[in-house]
Amino acid sequence: MKVAVIGLGYVGLTTALLMDKAGYEVTGCDISQERLDSIWMHKMPFHEPGLDEYMQDHDMFVSNDIEMTIKNADVILVTVGTPSNNDGSINLQYVFDAMKEIGRHLDSQKVQLVMLKSTCVPRTSEACIILLEQYSGLNHGHHFGFVMSPEFLREGSAVEDTLHPDKVVIGFKYDFEGELAMDFYAGFLSNWGLPDILAMTNYINAEFIKYTNNAFLATKISFINEIATICEQNPGADVTTIARAIGMDKRIGPHFLNAGLGYGGSCFPKDVSALINVAENAEVEPAILKEVHATNISQRHWPIEKIRERFGEGMHDIKVAVLGMAFKPNTDDVRDSPAYDIVDILEQYDVIVNIYDPIVKHCEGLDSKFCESVDEALTGADCVIIATEWDEFKTITPETFIKLMKRPIVLDGRRIYNPMKMIKAGIEYYGIGFGRY
Ligand code: UDX
Repeated sequence: MKVAVIGLGYVGLTTALLMDKAGYEVTGCDISQERLDSIWMHKMPFHEPGLDEYMQDHDMFVSNDIEMTIKNADVILVTVGTPSNNDGSINLQYVFDAMKEIGRHLDSQKVQLVMLKSTCVPRTSEACIILLEQYSGLNHGHHFGFVMSPEFLREGSAVEDTLHPDKVVIGFKYDFEGELAMDFYAGFLSNWGLPDILAMTNYINAEFIKYTNNAFLATKISFINEIATICEQNPGADVTTIARAIGMDKRIGPHFLNAGLGYGGSCFPKDVSALINVAENAEVEPAILKEVHATNISQRHWPIEKIRERFGEGMHDIKVAVLGMAFKPNTDDVRDSPAYDIVDILEQYDVIVNIYDPIVKHCEGLDSKFCESVDEALTGADCVIIATEWDEFKTITPETFIKLMKRPIVLDGRRIYNPMKMIKAGIEYYGIGFGRY
């Protein structure tokens, strides 16, 4: 099968490399020549565990000759970005530009399938099909097929998620499109054929499934973070124990109940905002979604509030170590990272900040120093904020904090330490959702 992949970000590049490994003839296109060069030279353009070995020995082509790439393909995957506009609505310009370009070059001599995987608001598929018809002069359902098949892979576990997805969603209109899409997935998914992983539906449901999925996970996180805030006002309460126990209820499940500094990244914040925008355009008040968003933003202020309470006016003279800059472990992605906002606010208070992250070594827009090691960041600090739960931070002992820091004050924004062990060892410990005695 010949596949064209338009847009080589986390979703596009991961899918392209895994399809290549499965024997598909893959050609990738991207507007960034730098990215194409990097792939051509077998170099990863971003950090993603496990993907490098596929990058090392791939046979995929990269091209900026979109005409040839489209004409040759049996399936054309669209995996371009869908960023936010300033009002929170989604910006579909890259998707529409891709559709126009595809439309210009569809081959009238064969029936090709266009598969949209980018996260797009309801009714985008309809708009895409209109563009494809306009720019190709061909008829949907007769000359070409179109499916909406959103992607659910997570950064940090993109390879595993792509090969063994929990579900495959295929939004289609004509039977042949659904069948072509199933053939496409059957050739490279490791768990294809398992019962209960396939959701075949219409376009609009496929679009809604992606948003509802992400908004529900975001809701779980904000919900447990609200419980965490209540716990902190009740000595002896601990949100981690509560979350673990409620997660044993099969109706709730154990995942996405880690209280902390809130969600970030390129998806949840953007998708919750876009869904709020979709609701408001339909004159529906999205009360829950708005609270999910507001709670998430207030979580980022947790360490700032703790520092303000603890140091009062003296906070301007302190030195703070921030451990973690990526929005979550195992990625170098800092998009909408809580850590970024926290450092940004501390800088506005003229606090001296020393950052350490195992992978992120620089951040556009921040003036603070990036240290070479945990020890360097901790040395002389008045307090430390755990902003990302990298494994490397979990093994820091209370003795290390006491030895290196000016004052061993630990603000555990990701709940990676045992509070009682820390306190017994002499640490002044504050943890999200931990009610201190
Ligand atoms: C998410 C979706 O999971 C994925 O299906 C979709 O395709 C893209 O968006 P990703 O952004 O890579 O994936 O990360 P994910 O692991 O889902 O975490 C999102 C955010 O939630 C992170 O900032 C993480 O720190 C936070 N989180 C997650 C919590 O705060 N608590 C949790 O219990 C789980």
